[in-house]
Amino acid sequence: MDPLARPLPLPCGATLKNRLCKAGMTEGLADEDDRASERLETLYGRWSDGGAGLLVTGNVMVDRRYLERPGNIVIDRNGGLDALATMARAATRNGNHCWMQISHPGRQCTRMSSNHPVSPSSVKMRGMLGSVAAPRELEVDEIWDIIERFAYVAKTAKETGFTGVQIHSAHGYLSSQFLSPYTNRRTDEWGGSLENRARFLRETYKAVREAVGADFPVGAKLNSSDFQKGGFSNEESALVARWLCDAGLDLLEISGGTYEQTALFGRLGEEAEKKAESTRRREAYFLEYARNIREAARGVPLMVTGGFRSVSLMREVIDSGEVDVVGIARPFCVVPDLPNQIEKGTLTKLPTPEKERRLGPGIFGPTSSIRSVRTLNSQAEVSWFYRQIIALGEGREPDLALGTWGALLAHFNGELAVARRRTFQQPKAALPAPKEALDA
Ligand SMILES: Cc1cc2nc3c(=O)[nH]c(=O)nc-3n(C[C@H](O)[C@H](O)[C@H](O)COP(=O)(O)O)c2cc1C
Repeated sequence: MDPLARPLPLPCGATLKNRLCKAGMTEGLADEDDRASERLETLYGRWSDGGAGLLVTGNVMVDRRYLERPGNIVIDRNGGLDALATMARAATRNGNHCWMQISHPGRQCTRMSSNHPVSPSSVKMRGMLGSVAAPRELEVDEIWDIIERFAYVAKTAKETGFTGVQIHSAHGYLSSQFLSPYTNRRTDEWGGSLENRARFLRETYKAVREAVGADFPVGAKLNSSDFQKGGFSNEESALVARWLCDAGLDLLEISGGTYEQTALFGRLGEEAEKKAESTRRREAYFLEYARNIREAARGVPLMVTGGFRSVSLMREVIDSGEVDVVGIARPFCVVPDLPNQIEKGTLTKLPTPEKERRLGPGIFGPTSSIRSVRTLNSQAEVSWFYRQIIALGEGREPDLALGTWGALLAHFNGELAVARRRTFQQPKAALPAPKEALDA
């Protein structure tokens, strides 16, 4: 039997029908009240038909005041439960699982939703071209409020037909900000030692588990490392993995990086890239880092996401037991049925359109020494994929001819339009320029 086609039983008793997962990708397709929409139903129906054993949704936010981008789904008593149920039905219609990724952006919060984001400590992001504001430190009662919100969203996910949840604790989002000594400078019981920095994630896991019960899948996405000086390290990640797995986690997804250090897309920093160069695992760039975590995870299923493009490598890592689930994101934007194609043997290498997405050569390129230029390049690359997701949600085919600048401009225009349409608006006095762009 093809290793990728093997079912995977999870500790809670549920089973994934195969080893391929579409990893979480923010969709930006919620309606004006931040609820699920018909476009999300279409998108997830297509991905479900595509044959993956597991679909993880993009960030679903726990608080409408703090978004990673306008168009995020939010669940904070804003209604829309029927629409969520419709989305969940479409997303699971092929016998696969669809898990809701639950998230809070913390300081990685777009100004289009708030000029006053929150974070464990007030450490401002660098090189973000003014798109995010400096955060303020969370009060302890606010931290508990956020944990309760995660549990509420998890319960809602279960009630509306999603078949599991994933706590987003990677990529520099709030839970990942708590884990990192670079962004968490607190001196109370929520900061300092690793035990304290991991408190937010562990309490969140506990609350979520209580909300959904023992037989419902709960996963987490964790950085193998932040790849940032002074950030969350690989050794720390292995310990946190152990704690989560001991607590009863069903699936641990490994990724890495933050908005400031976009390792999630393979830019691990000079030192780490040199290390990867010397291994045959340059393609799936987190495999080396996942090894430590594998040992710590005490048999809890492990998923690794980032860079997997050759089907032979996917088969090899599943067959050897190194990884239990292969997480794939960007290729699903252009080949939504890639699991079916892999099964039929018509696809042995996944497409890599990201390789052509750069705004310029040399210092204007993605490896520029100027941080803001690097940010702009990352934005351009990711914008291209955002536009493809929108195309899929609108029932169209991916637009492979779309240029990088065109994608970036279309993305920013689109985001402003979505922000303008939102029913919830931050106080007008706090709105960023240009005023006319955001006024309702
Ligand atoms: C358009 C886009 C949106 C993304 N949104 C999310 C998200 O909402 N949650 C998340 O955990 N990761 C998100 N990611 C990261 C992916 O899940 C994945 O970790 C990354 O793209 C590397 O995997 P890949 O090489 O297979 O694309 C996003 C990536 C892309 C390209």
